Amino acid sequence: MRKFEASRRSREIEYAIRDVAVPAAELERQGHRVLKLNIGDPNAYDFDTPQHIKDAYIEALEEGRNGYSPSYGIPSLLEAIATRERGQGCDVSADDVIVGTGVTEALQMLFGAAVSPGDEVLVPGPTYPPYISYVRFFDGVPVTYRTAEEDGWQPDLDDLRSRITDRTKAICIINPNNPTGALYEGDTLRAIADIAGEHDLFLVSDEIYDRMTYERELTPTARASGDVPLVVLNGISKVYLAPGWRVGYMAFRDPDGRLDAVKDGVQRQARARLCPSHPAQVAFQAALEGPQGHIAAVNATLRERRDLALERIDAIEGLSSARPGGAFYMFPRIEDTALQDDKAFVLDLLCRKHVLLVHGSGFCPVFGRGHFRMVFLPPREVINEAFDRIEEYFRER
Ligand SMILES: Cc1ncc(COP(=O)(O)O)c(C=O)c1O
Repeated sequence: MRKFEASRRSREIEYAIRDVAVPAAELERQGHRVLKLNIGDPNAYDFDTPQHIKDAYIEALEEGRNGYSPSYGIPSLLEAIATRERGQGCDVSADDVIVGTGVTEALQMLFGAAVSPGDEVLVPGPTYPPYISYVRFFDGVPVTYRTAEEDGWQPDLDDLRSRITDRTKAICIINPNNPTGALYEGDTLRAIADIAGEHDLFLVSDEIYDRMTYERELTPTARASGDVPLVVLNGISKVYLAPGWRVGYMAFRDPDGRLDAVKDGVQRQARARLCPSHPAQVAFQAALEGPQGHIAAVNATLRERRDLALERIDAIEGLSSARPGGAFYMFPRIEDTALQDDKAFVLDLLCRKHVLLVHGSGFCPVFGRGHFRMVFLPPREVINEAFDRIEEYFRER
C-alpha cells in the first residue's frame, strides 16, 4: 500500500517549545501535576485580556463584523497601526501596513516574499524558532549571529559583521528578545543599522514585547535606523494579552521604495489567503486606541516575578542568569559541565521533578547550548515551588 511522504520542507520544521510539551502532557495524563515554565502565553497563567478589548471583540460579533475583511486589514485598523508606529518614530502610512494572523503569519509572508533560494538572512542566536524555520522553508539560509551572554545577551556586532556575505539580504532583530529577555541598547541598534546601510541590507525588527520593559523603555529600531529599509512587526498577543486571537502586522518603513517588490509579494500572499480574523482586528484597533493602563500593572507584576526568579536562580549552585530587561523570559546557563546536553537535562528534570522548561539548543544549537528558557509569568507561589523542585534536583545530583 502506498505511504504518502511529507515534503522535505515540512519535515524540517521544528518548534522546540511545543515539542517538549508532549512528554509533559503524558505525565499529566498519568495524573502528575506539572509546573509549566515553558509557554510564552500570559493567558496560560493569571493574566487576562483587558475588559474593554474583550468588549470590542464581542461588539464586533454582535454588529455582524463576521464576514471577510479586506486582505491587508480593515482600513481603520491600518490607520490606527500607522498612527501608533509614527508615534514610535516609524514614518509609515496605512498603505505600508499589512495585517496578518499574528506576527508569525506576517513573518511567513515576509520571508515568502523576500527569500529566494540561497538568500541568507541574519537571525539572532538564540532566536524565536520560526525565524529559522520559515527562512529554511523558502529555501533560504538562516545565518545565526551571536548575542553575547556576558553582555546581557546584546548582539555581538563583530560577529554579526563577520557573517555578512554577498548572499545576505536582511538582518533580523528581536527586541526585547525571545528567548533571552534582552532589551537592546540604542547604540547597538544604531550600529546594526549602520552595518545594514553599509552592506545594502534591510532590517526586520520584531517588537512584539515592545512595552513590556522593566528598567527603561524600548528604543524602537525605527528611531535608530535613519532611512535604512525596515519592516517592523508587532501585534496583540503579548502587550494586549490576547495571543489566541491571532492578529499582528508588518509595517514597511521604506522611504526610497526599495522594498516595493517585497511588499507587493507580501500583498499577493495576503490576497491569496483572504484575510485575518475580522472581529479580532476590530478588537486590536480598540486595544491600540483605548486605555493603556493595564500595561503598567502587568509590568509591575512581571518585574516582581522576574526578581524572584533571579533571586532563586542566584541561590542555586550550578545555575546563573543575565537580568532580562524586557519580555517575560530568562535564559539561564547550566554551569555543570556534566549537564551540557540541555535537552537531556530538561527531559530529566521533567521526568524526575515535573517542572517543564525548554532546552536552550531549541533556540539555537550553538549559542543556546547549555542553557534553558523559562518564563517568569506564573504567580509567585508557582515560581517558588518550581525552584524548590529545581533546587532539589541539583542537590540530589
Ligand atoms: C519574538 C516573537 N515574535 C512573535 C511571536 C508570536 O507572535 P504572534 O502571536 O503575533 O504570532 C512570539 C511569540 O512567542 C515571539 O516571541
